Amino acid sequence: MKLSVGKKAATSSEPPPTRIEAIAKVADYLEAAGVADAQEDARALLRAAAGLTRLELALAPRAPLSDEEARTLSDYAARRVAREPVSRILGERGFWTLDLAVTPGVLDPRADTETLVETALSFLAKKRDAPLSILDLGAGSGAIACALLSEFPGARAVAVDLSAEACAATAANLARCGFSNRASVVRGRWAEALQGRFDLIVSNPPYVRTDDIAGLEPEVRLHDPALALDGGADGLDCYREIIRDMPRLLAEDGLVLFEVGFDQAVSVATLLGAKGFQIERVARDAGRHERVVAARLAASGK
Ligand SMILES: C[S@@+](CC[C@H](N)C(=O)[O-])C[C@H]1O[C@@H](n2cnc3c(N)ncnc32)[C@H](O)[C@@H]1O
Repeated sequence: MKLSVGKKAATSSEPPPTRIEAIAKVADYLEAAGVADAQEDARALLRAAAGLTRLELALAPRAPLSDEEARTLSDYAARRVAREPVSRILGERGFWTLDLAVTPGVLDPRADTETLVETALSFLAKKRDAPLSILDLGAGSGAIACALLSEFPGARAVAVDLSAEACAATAANLARCGFSNRASVVRGRWAEALQGRFDLIVSNPPYVRTDDIAGLEPEVRLHDPALALDGGADGLDCYREIIRDMPRLLAEDGLVLFEVGFDQAVSVATLLGAKGFQIERVARDAGRHERVVAARLAASGK
């Protein structure tokens, strides 16, 4: 079988591997290197290398790989062994119902962040077609803004990020999803330069404690930008800064949704409470971690 993954080089006398053999070989290679979801990743890399949908692979698992496909797969496998995430190797990530481009300058959007979108939907179920104004602070790839615009067809969004690469990625994903006409992208420090009021303010700010960054998995530490991770000594610096501007930006009866680290919900709720917000809900992610804090301005704080 000819597929040069790992140290063993291909020999031309071997027959080409079938797709299913190639998946098994790559999965073994990834597993030996300590990659957690080796089978799943091997399948995703094979499908991308051979340009196959899930269905096409399921229908013809024993078709042989071409030399070109085998070379591409070997290259992908080597990158995954170096702990580059699959989404970065392929330049794409599924988020919510959308396929988004992921560039090196942005956080790879996480499934946990879909909890924020779900929470927005549950609070605003009766306003699905309303002309909501949405503010996404720290937009990154634009994942949250794109998902919200896909669910609220009458809404408009302002997406802010300090990073020029993130602003470009957000603009590109908004265009890719067909939402450019309902969104604007602003490069700046949180809400500093913003005026006006928003019905929904969302943010997934950097929240990792500075000292914890060195201990993160290589997929995160080596591939997500530091600006997207570092939340300062206690992980809460960005929440403090954002919450300061919230009262002047929130519309009457407006809703704030923060994504938080798994152990930060109480701290973020306390910061919000100190600025006149009342906590409406703390939503849990699929792993049962407290992941999203929902708040509104208490009547006396308006
Ligand atoms: C954790 S990432 C979230 C990205 C995206 N919203 C998501 O959920 O996948 C945080 C984002 O905040 C941005 N950021 C960091 N500091 C900022 C600041 N002072 N002002 C605006 N954006 C900032 C980073 O560039 C990064 O894109």
